[in-house]
Amino acid sequence: MKTIVIFHSHTGITRRVAERLSGLLGGEKIEITPERKYSGPFALIKGCYRSIKRSADPVIPGDIDVTDYDVIIIGSPVWAGRPSPVINGAIKGLNGCRGKKVFAVMTCRNKNSGSNAIGFLVEQLKNKGFVVSKTVVLDKKETNDDALIERIAGDIRAA
Ligand SMILES: Cc1cc2nc3c(=O)[nH]c(=O)nc-3n(C[C@H](O)[C@H](O)[C@H](O)COP(=O)(O)O)c2cc1C
Repeated sequence: MKTIVIFHSHTGITRRVAERLSGLLGGEKIEITPERKYSGPFALIKGCYRSIKRSADPVIPGDIDVTDYDVIIIGSPVWAGRPSPVINGAIKGLNGCRGKKVFAVMTCRNKNSGSNAIGFLVEQLKNKGFVVSKTVVLDKKETNDDALIERIAGDIRAA
């Protein structure tokens, strides 16, 4: 089973989850970064605005072909109750998605907000032709729960 974790992380929380999942499942991971970095409080306000508008940032890498992978895991922080515009940019640039199994993982401060955001992420992934196997929303405490992350990796392996 060839696995890839594709994620955005602004403050490192989603990165830690992505690294743990990738460590447990093997395979590759790709961190997506915006071409124009979000630095400073006003930049993050703009980021929230772009999230609400469901805009897609120009990102690095701009295109990823997932044809060779059996399992794709997409990770994003919640920004303004939505997926980040950085992960939107990554999803826009994915190729070879049709019929592939995807797992969506979001990290957030507030679970209600995260549960709302995951629906938007799922919609985007379905529009790319993915089959969404499982979604996970983790608050900060849960992202530090090793047993939980191991259970999630087990669920992904078994799916
Ligand atoms: C610009 C911005 C907007 C955010 N908006 C929300 C939000 O609407 N709801 C929420 O629960 N958390 C929100 N958060 C918190 C992050 O989703 C949360 O801390 C996440 O785990 C950060 O992941 P990261 O460290 O990988 O960037 C926001 C954080 C930032 C920087």
